[in-house]
Amino acid sequence: TYVVTEACINCKYTDCVEVCPVDCFYEGENMLVINPDECIDCGVCEPECPAEAILADTEDGLEKWIELGEKYSAEWPNITERVDPMDGADAAKDEQDKFEKHFS
Ligand code: SF4
Ligand code: F3S
Repeated sequence: TYVVTEACINCKYTDCVEVCPVDCFYEGENMLVINPDECIDCGVCEPECPAEAILADTEDGLEKWIELGEKYSAEWPNITERVDPMDGADAAKDEQDKFEKHFS
């Protein structure tokens, strides 16, 4: 399955949701998550993200993001259509430690 990671925080470009064949993205206040039970591992969303926030869960060090996806995809609303990115998304794209600073 694929996982949304830190780079999405405060960006939410939402290009990813347009291409997902099974509509398995869920929207929080400042990031999206993928429902791991619904993702069919097709990989088409990964190159679409301008922030390169989407990674395969086989990469190292993604435990926190995998847990967030499992938890919040059950709580947040489904998002299936592209919307405008967050204000300041381009500035936030390459910012580090966004989880500690901004996650809510
Ligand atoms: Fe959707 Fe495919 Fe991305 Fe999974 S890998 S979230 S099914 S586009
Ligand atoms: Fe986030 Fe990238 Fe999608 S910034 S909303 S994972 S296109």
